[in-house]
Amino acid sequence: MTAEHTVEDLRMRDGRGYRVQLCVEPGTPHSPEFLRGRIAEAFTRLSSQSRWQRFSAPIHRLSARQLDYLTDIDNRDRVAWCASVGADDSEVGIGLARYIRLQDEPEVAEFALTVVDAYQGQGVGSQLMQKLIESAAANGLRVLRGYVLRSNQRMLAICRRRGAALSTADASTIVAEIEVAAWSGGQP
Ligand SMILES: CC(C)(COP(=O)(O)OP(=O)(O)OC[C@H]1O[C@@H](n2cnc3c(N)ncnc32)[C@H](O)[C@@H]1OP(=O)(O)O)[C@@H](O)C(=O)NCCC(=O)NCCS
Repeated sequence: MTAEHTVEDLRMRDGRGYRVQLCVEPGTPHSPEFLRGRIAEAFTRLSSQSRWQRFSAPIHRLSARQLDYLTDIDNRDRVAWCASVGADDSEVGIGLARYIRLQDEPEVAEFALTVVDAYQGQGVGSQLMQKLIESAAANGLRVLRGYVLRSNQRMLAICRRRGAALSTADASTIVAEIEVAAWSGGQP
């Protein structure tokens, strides 16, 4: 890998090391096929509560169609950052943040963020969100929009820290909108 690649080595709150990089990046092992395997495997390590918080549905496994959708990345309109522990062959995925630009609102993208349960509360989600915001700003987006369950205090904390405008989507869901230009240079 060369210096052009996006790999960044970071530390969790408890001191463990982890790595953040684009999920799909030419010239690295991170191909769409690699990502597909990683997402399917990491999903098996998500609790039912985390699956519910992420998908707002009781999903037991990801379908081939969902995996197609989640791995369709172009690093501009469809961007994903991942976090992992262990290097190269022993790399294990621990988190993923993604956005997809909306066709009918081209300055807006919808985001989603997931960290596997064993690594939640360690600052990984916050770092992934920051990377996503920086990519969004660099790719000309104005707003990252996410749908967050009212009970999801960690996700709401990440959004509030970045000045998100919060509004009601329905009885159980909040819409969070982050203006990316204001936060793309900030600390996570
Ligand atoms: C939501 C999620 C992505 C957050 O990632 P994380 O790595 O666990 O979060 P972090 O450790 O970065 O903490 C995020 C914030 O929550 C706060 N926090 C941590 N634990 C908390 C808790 N138990 N209750 C409330 N806030 C908490 C942190 O202090 C931090 O706030 P700060 O940045 O203002 O300090 C992760 O918990 C997750 O994947 N949950 C299941 C899927 C999901 O909910 N996805 C969101 C759908 S959009």
